[in-house]
Amino acid sequence: MNRPADPAADPVTALKRDNAQFLWHPMAHPKAMKTEGQRPDIIARGEGCWVWDIDGHKLLDGVAGLWSSNLGHSCRPVRDAIMAQLDELPFFNTFRGTTHPRAIELSRAIVELMRDDGVAAVMFSNGGSDAVEGALKLARQFHKLRGDNDRHKFIAMRQGYHGVHFGGMSVNGNSNFRRPYEPLLPGVFHIDSPWLYRNAYTDDETKLGEIVAAQLEREIVFQGPDTVAAFIAEPIQGAGGVIVPPPNFWPRVREVCSRHGVLLIADEVVTGFGRGGAMFGTRLWGVQADLWCLAKGISSGYVPLGATAISHNVADVFEADTSGAASVAHGYTYSAHPVAAAAAIATLKILVADDIPGLVARRSPAFQQRLRGLEQRVPFVGNVRGKGYMLGVEMVADRARKTPLPKTSDIPARVARAAYRRGLMVRVSGPNLILSPPLVISEAELDFLCSTLEAAFDEVAAA
Ligand SMILES: Cc1ncc(COP(=O)(O)O)c(C=O)c1O
Repeated sequence: MNRPADPAADPVTALKRDNAQFLWHPMAHPKAMKTEGQRPDIIARGEGCWVWDIDGHKLLDGVAGLWSSNLGHSCRPVRDAIMAQLDELPFFNTFRGTTHPRAIELSRAIVELMRDDGVAAVMFSNGGSDAVEGALKLARQFHKLRGDNDRHKFIAMRQGYHGVHFGGMSVNGNSNFRRPYEPLLPGVFHIDSPWLYRNAYTDDETKLGEIVAAQLEREIVFQGPDTVAAFIAEPIQGAGGVIVPPPNFWPRVREVCSRHGVLLIADEVVTGFGRGGAMFGTRLWGVQADLWCLAKGISSGYVPLGATAISHNVADVFEADTSGAASVAHGYTYSAHPVAAAAAIATLKILVADDIPGLVARRSPAFQQRLRGLEQRVPFVGNVRGKGYMLGVEMVADRARKTPLPKTSDIPARVARAAYRRGLMVRVSGPNLILSPPLVISEAELDFLCSTLEAAFDEVAAA
């Protein structure tokens, strides 16, 4: 039974106690909150690219909240847009029959931003999982509208992450997120990830791109092309360990999907809005998707927002319908929440005016190259990989044999703690450390990030 809170406890102690007692966290065992050494860090304040925990430690935010706070934590124009919107209209819905100015303005801003990508319209939601769910549902509806009633299957990639709703979870390529909630959506199939460091085929990047794209084609043919609705993938796999595909992979995937009438869904929840060094991840690979899933950086994490961007070839089929079947039977109370939309409009203006993707493209190669040096520096670092401001450091038990760390290894957590003590927040995901700093990080801050991470690795290696 819950014990009554101790009114005499100081505010910091009271918050820690209440967190352990009352709050279940995403992706965590509830008991961990009560276990010394596993309790979460309570982040109380943010300014620029820095955050402070409740005990007063100052940390460089190496994860941008969670791939989200791309403009840092004190972007005045975004904050002002939010405050103005709260004064003007805190909430109204966008279901059939009503809407509000910010939803309309943001839809136009996104379509203009993505005009060259072939985008015709956008459908809003509250986050990345929602954006994925919307894309999967529109994909099925698109085929039904064309009379392709059997095209209901989805193909996705191992190591992929597409959020936590039943659809997104079913296309996820990591069993940790799937097993507790099975059975999942039927008719979902997975191909390999074009993962250069760990694959069964080749060390040659171009060949790997060909092999995995051919695997996609074989899977489509095996399932029967007339049964496959869409292939969904991240332009760079993020949560799976920052897996950057070979440059030929997405162009080949685009060809394969087009040849078989399969829609291509780009899950750009992480890569969208500049993180990879281009405004969108699909632009990095020179392709256009049919549907894009957007969230996180869309509002720089200030207020939750998701969006599914819809290409002309999908939108045209919906708009040509005269039967009523194209009515979108999907949406959330808070789709295009006015405060979130205001934050996103302000965010997009800055991304474009300051050419933030260009900034990332210019600054990130030195960042990537410096941290790649960890492969030589640290005996238990197997592979450092990334693009733009997405970087993964994979730790191994034996570098020569690429032997994975045992699941119980505490090495990644020890490195993360060492970095934390030295003033850098990083994220552990399995055997990987993941870095995704705010896109506005300065060169001096990047230097601090790299030297702190190197020192943290040195400390653990020496121990
Ligand atoms: C590629 C990708 N898709 C979808 C999601 C789910 O987004 P959300 O956590 O906002 O629901 C994430 C979250 O990290 C993601 O990385």
